Amino acid sequence: MKFVVDQQVEDIELPENLKLNTFLQEFHSDCHDPQCGFGFYGFAFGQSPFPVPRPIQEALVKNVNKGAYAPVQGIPELREAISKYNKFYFGIDVDPQRIYVGPGTKELIFNLLEILHGTVILPTPAWLGYLPQIRFLKKNYHMLLSGENGKISPHDLKKLALRLHDRQKILILNNPHNPTGVLYDKSDLEEITEVCREQGITVISDEIYAQTTYDFSKFVSMGKIYPEGTFVTNGLSKSHAAGGYRLGYVIFPQHALDVRRQFKKILATEYTAVSTPIQHAAVAGFEISSELNDYFEITRNIHQLIGEYTFNFLNKIDGVVATKPEATFYLLADFNSFANELEKNKINTSQKLSEALIIHPYHTAIVGGDSLVLERTDFRARIAFVDYDGEKVYYNYKNQKPKTFSEKLEFVECNAPKVVSGLKMIEKFLNDLKRNLNSDLQTLENPIKLTI
Ligand SMILES: Cc1ncc(COP(=O)(O)O)c(C=O)c1O
Repeated sequence: MKFVVDQQVEDIELPENLKLNTFLQEFHSDCHDPQCGFGFYGFAFGQSPFPVPRPIQEALVKNVNKGAYAPVQGIPELREAISKYNKFYFGIDVDPQRIYVGPGTKELIFNLLEILHGTVILPTPAWLGYLPQIRFLKKNYHMLLSGENGKISPHDLKKLALRLHDRQKILILNNPHNPTGVLYDKSDLEEITEVCREQGITVISDEIYAQTTYDFSKFVSMGKIYPEGTFVTNGLSKSHAAGGYRLGYVIFPQHALDVRRQFKKILATEYTAVSTPIQHAAVAGFEISSELNDYFEITRNIHQLIGEYTFNFLNKIDGVVATKPEATFYLLADFNSFANELEKNKINTSQKLSEALIIHPYHTAIVGGDSLVLERTDFRARIAFVDYDGEKVYYNYKNQKPKTFSEKLEFVECNAPKVVSGLKMIEKFLNDLKRNLNSDLQTLENPIKLTI
C-alpha cells in the first residue's frame, strides 16, 4: 500500500538540530580513527546540562498516581504558582486567568501563530524553531535583520511596519536571544514598544531564557513594558533544565478575553491538556524557595563563566568576531572574514562549513547560518557552550565558587574540558584553512550528505 503524505508536510524540512543529531550518530560509526574515541565536540545542541531541580523530581514521583485529565488551561495550582513566580522574579502582576499551560513553549508559539491573524515579523538571526512553523501555517512573513549589536532597531521595525498593510502584524521577539545571547534592556524594549503602540503591532515575546540572564537585575519582561499587546511565553525547559518535561506557559495580554476563549478551543482540539503529573511537578518548579533560587543563581553563574571563556577564546582568534552573551548558553561566531579561504576549499555555504568541521580530525558540531535564518552563504554559526557534565559541574561550583580571574579560568578548564578542546579545534581548523594544509578538507570534493 502506498500512502500519500500531504504536500504541506512534504514541504517541511526536519529541523536542523534533529538532522544534525541523526547525522552525528550515523557519521560517528563511520570514523574508525582510534583517536576519535572521544566522540565529538558538541557546540550544536541547545540543552541545559544541569540536573532537574530536586523539588520538581520529588513532586513528579509524588504525583505519579494522578491519572485524570487536567483542565485545558492547566491545573489551578500551577497557574497560581506561575502567577506568583512572575510577580517575584519579573515584577509582573498576572491574574492566573491570563495564564495557559501547554506542552512546551514551541507548541504554544505554534498555537498562537495559528489563532492570530496577520503578517509575522521575524527578526534574524533567529532560533531555528520559528520559521518552519510560520511556513507550515502558510503565514505571510517578513524578516527583520538585526543590527551589529544583535538587536532589531525600532527605526527599522517602523519602516517595515509602514510597508505592511495587514490588519495585524505580529513581532516575534526573543529575549534573551538565541542564537546571540544578547539581551534587550528596558530602554530597548521601551523604544520597541513605542513603535508597536503606534503601528498596532502584537508581540509574541519568547522569554524562555529569562532566568539565565547573567546579571538577573537587567532582565525586563516585555509583558511589563507592553502589557496590552504582548503574549509572553516561558517554561521549564531552559531555566529548570527540564526540556523533556514539555511544559511551557503563555501569559495573555491584559484584556484579551476573546483571544483566550479562542485559544482554549485550539488547545482542547489539539492536545486536551498537558500531562497531569508533569503539571504537579511543575508547581514545585515555580514555587518560590531558596533552593530554587540558589539553583537559578548557580546555573546562570556557570553559564556566564563558560560563556565568557568561549567569547574571549573566539575573539582572540584573528578574524573571528563573536557576540558577547549576557544570557543563555549561546553566542554567534562570525567566520565571514575566512570566506576566501573557505571558498578555496570548496566550502561555499554555511552547511558545508558545518560538514567540514564535523569530519576528521575536527569532529566539532556547530549550527550553521542557514539554520539560523541567515543567508546560506553567511558564515556565522551558533556556538552552544554546554558540552560538560552538568551535575558534576553544578556541585563543584556550589562547593567552591571561583572568584578571581585565574580561578575562573581554572574552573572552566577543569570542568568543561570538551568545550576548551572544541574551541581549540575550531582554532586549528581556521589555521589549517589559512595555511591550506589540510588534506582532510579535500574529502569535501565528495560532500558529506545528510542522509535523512
Ligand atoms: C528561543 C527558544 N524558544 C523556544 C524553545 C523551545 O522551548 P520548549 O522546550 O519550551 O518548547 C527553544 C528551545 O531551544 C528556544 O531556544
